[in-house]
Amino acid sequence: MKLDKIGIWSEIKLDIIREYANAFTTIMRKQAWCQGYAYIDAFAGAGVHISRRTGEFIMGSPLNALEIKNPFTEYHYIDIDKEKTEALDMLTRDIPDIRIYKGDSNEVLRKNILPFLTYETKKRALCILDPYGLHLHWETIMDAAKLRTTEIFLNFPLMDMNRNVLHKDLLSADQEQIERMNKFCGTEEWQNILYREQKDLFGQTYQMKIGGNIELGKWFRKKRLQENAGFKFVPEPVLMRNSKGGPLFFLFFASHNENGKKIVNDIFNKYRKYL
Ligand SMILES: C[S@@+](CC[C@H](N)C(=O)[O-])C[C@H]1O[C@@H](n2cnc3c(N)ncnc32)[C@H](O)[C@@H]1O
Repeated sequence: MKLDKIGIWSEIKLDIIREYANAFTTIMRKQAWCQGYAYIDAFAGAGVHISRRTGEFIMGSPLNALEIKNPFTEYHYIDIDKEKTEALDMLTRDIPDIRIYKGDSNEVLRKNILPFLTYETKKRALCILDPYGLHLHWETIMDAAKLRTTEIFLNFPLMDMNRNVLHKDLLSADQEQIERMNKFCGTEEWQNILYREQKDLFGQTYQMKIGGNIELGKWFRKKRLQENAGFKFVPEPVLMRNSKGGPLFFLFFASHNENGKKIVNDIFNKYRKYL
C-alpha cells in the first residue's frame, strides 16, 4: 500500500490532537462516576504516514492515541479503504480494546458507535472527524452533538470546498458538488452567506461570490455547531495553510465541556503563532 505523504500542517494537527487526548484521559481517569472513555477515529487512515518535511515515517492519529500516557478505555477506528483498515489491524494486533471497522464512517458512527455513548452510560468520548474532503454528513455531527458525552475535532475541508464548489459564480459548479457541500453543512444556507444573485450586462443571472473562508468559518462555528447542533463550547478554529499560504482546512473543536474548551484554546493558541 502507498502511504500518504503529509505536510507540516498535518503534523501540527496530529500534535494538537495528541496533546488534547493526553489531557482528556488524564482528567477522565480521575472521575469516579465515569464508566469509560472512548477514542473514536472516524477517518482513521492507515496509522502511518510519510512526512513531506523529513521523508521519515510518522505515526497517524490512531497510533498516536495509543501512545498517550493514560490510555482510553476503548478505541474505535473507521476507514472506508480496505487496505488502510488492514494495515491498521496489523499495526494494532496485540492491543486490546480496539475495534476496527471498514466502512463509511457516517453509517458506522451512527449505527455502531454513537448509540452506545448515551448520557446514561456515564461514558465520555473524543471523536476525531478528519476527512480529506466533503465526506462527512451533517447528521453525523448532529448525532454526536445530541449525546452530550462526545467532543469532536473536526477537519473543515476548505480545499475541497474551494476547489470544487465555491467558485466565483456558483452556477459554474457541478450540482453534484453543491450537493456534497449541502450534505456536509446539512443545509443550503451557506449559499446565502457566500453568494448574491446578480445580472450581467446581457441580463443573465449569476451567483456572485461575496464571502470567503472567514465568513464561512464564522457561520459554521456560531450558527451550525453552537446554535443548531447545540455544542456549548466551540473555540475559534485554527486555520491550516499550505507552504504557499493557501488555506487547506479549519480545525474545529466542539464540546459540551468548558474545561475541554479552555484546554483546547490554550493548545490552539500555542500553535496559532506558527501558522
Ligand atoms: C486525512 S485521512 C485521515 C488521517 C488520520 N486522521 C491521521 O491523521 O493519521 C482521511 C481518511 O479518510 C478515509 N475516508 C474517506 N472517506 C471516508 C468515509 N466516508 N468513511 C470513512 N473513511 C473515509 C480515507 O480513506 C483516508 O484514509
